[in-house]
Amino acid sequence: MTELERDSDIDKTDDDVENADIDESELSGRAGKIITLAKRRGFFWNSNEIYGGSAGFYDYGPLGTRLECNLVDIWRDIFVIQEGYAEISTPVITPEMVFSASGHLKEFTDLMVECKKCSEPFRADQLLTEHHPQPDNLNAEEVNGMLTEFGIKCPVCGGALSEAYPFNLMFKTNIGPGSKRIGYLRPETAQGMFINFHLLYRYFREKIPFGVVQIGRAFRNEISPRQGMIRLREFKMAELEYFIDPSDKSHPKYERIKGLKIPLLPAGKPQEEAKPTTVAITLEEAIEKKILGSEVMAYFIGLTYEYLNSIGLSGPSLRFRQHGEKEKAHYAEDCWDAEILTSFGWIECVGIADRSCYDIERHNEYSGHTLAVTIHHEQPIEREVKKVIVDNKALGKKFKALSVKIKAALEKLDGNKVADDGSPLKVNIDGKDYEIDRDCFEVKTVTEKEFGKKIIPHVIEPSFGLDRITFALIENSYYERESSYRVLRFKPQVAPINAGVFPLMAKPELVEVTQKCIENLKNMKLNIFYDDSGSIGRRYARMDEAGTPFCVTIDYDSLKDNTVTIRERDSTDQVRIKIANLPKILNDLIEEKLIFKEIKAA
Ligand code: GLY
Repeated sequence: MTELERDSDIDKTDDDVENADIDESELSGRAGKIITLAKRRGFFWNSNEIYGGSAGFYDYGPLGTRLECNLVDIWRDIFVIQEGYAEISTPVITPEMVFSASGHLKEFTDLMVECKKCSEPFRADQLLTEHHPQPDNLNAEEVNGMLTEFGIKCPVCGGALSEAYPFNLMFKTNIGPGSKRIGYLRPETAQGMFINFHLLYRYFREKIPFGVVQIGRAFRNEISPRQGMIRLREFKMAELEYFIDPSDKSHPKYERIKGLKIPLLPAGKPQEEAKPTTVAITLEEAIEKKILGSEVMAYFIGLTYEYLNSIGLSGPSLRFRQHGEKEKAHYAEDCWDAEILTSFGWIECVGIADRSCYDIERHNEYSGHTLAVTIHHEQPIEREVKKVIVDNKALGKKFKALSVKIKAALEKLDGNKVADDGSPLKVNIDGKDYEIDRDCFEVKTVTEKEFGKKIIPHVIEPSFGLDRITFALIENSYYERESSYRVLRFKPQVAPINAGVFPLMAKPELVEVTQKCIENLKNMKLNIFYDDSGSIGRRYARMDEAGTPFCVTIDYDSLKDNTVTIRERDSTDQVRIKIANLPKILNDLIEEKLIFKEIKAA
């Protein structure tokens, strides 16, 4: 069979059989095609489908799971290995006190309305999208005013709507039996890093800046999730908390990224235009023009840009948009979202927030623990202070065992406030007052050395929504070669399957050689898919839909001259190479050390 013949029946995909249970009439346009493909090929689908499905929950199939693992591996390589941040893992179920402190209990809400007739709940802002450019920035009073002004009724049954009220988005649960201990499923992984700050500070040898990351699930009880994978009630995040001294917002590696040209859309006027246009400028220029407030924010915008580029998200469908004043989360002083253009519009995939000292300060207040850092002075600072100096012998003689507690109480007093008229001092020990005469202490001016000062660290947080990134990547990788021939153009390192390896026909002699090839490729840690069913064209088509960058075919010539055909997904070019060279060539192609066109034919 010639190469041409092998690709000739490529348009005959097996959609008819595999699509039987998908109602495409419900899905429209590009998003519909992608959701259909995602289900057919095993990327993702709505959870609990045999029981009617669950809004806001998605299952990852074999390819989706692998794809997301690859995205996480690349993220870890950048943030954990290259940047040297420490990864931790904390529980999903979190006691109520943590979220009282973090402000989520009070502030983590969306405005909701309910239909008085059919009881259907709605996010109030979603009913106002035709009447306001950014309805999610409106407060309850403004929302209620607009609902009345425009006579908004229930979109399901036309019934009257309730007033808008805040609905807390956290899932509540009981910890242990009974209802004494309330817990919540975490709405972000971040709090697990804040409440362990003191231990992490010690781990980093009591020096800042340092970074801690956590990758895991988070939960938000969305009011009416209607955007598939974009708005999930259970989702995965990869978050970094970078702790800094607020008086130093530089970044040690800023020089490396300052020349990156990034599409930025600052808050205010630029976003109010009918078609907001980004300014593509270097991070250095953005700081000079005061679009970005600090090197450290610029650094993480740059690093996020590099990560998204490295997985294949780049070009005009990527921008960084700053939050407006009303849009910012309760903890944020500044926030920039990395947004990706999809068929659902511009979607926030990463939020890079300056959380200031908000979280650590709140946990200090609510827990009673001191979460702080000591900034050591280069030289100790000397100053003269008035102190109460105890005469241990005299105090011990008078107060025996109690003298230890009395000494501690006396030494806590401010020497400047002690009268110099020789009068005794009063201290209270365990609820009882004691009078201490001057023969037990004196007030002296002494020189004290201060080695450092305690400060509350500030936090810069890049927070990655892994499911949204996965969806956006699938959508941005999708293209149609001919009318119904679908391809996912994943980068080789990101693709869930590295290569499809097929015998031309399911004949024992060809299968045997194929299996040997696969064994060698697996030893190189490559993820290989074996397929011997249907025509070779269909097998290529299935791999193209799965985003597999290369296919290898073993045919009867292989038995004679120990060569195989290797095919590239996007060009569909093919070249014959020696079987012995296959593992190295394939590995180099996956690692993008070798370009397909440069392969020398055997
Ligand atoms: N930690 C970021 C967020 O909750 O979105």
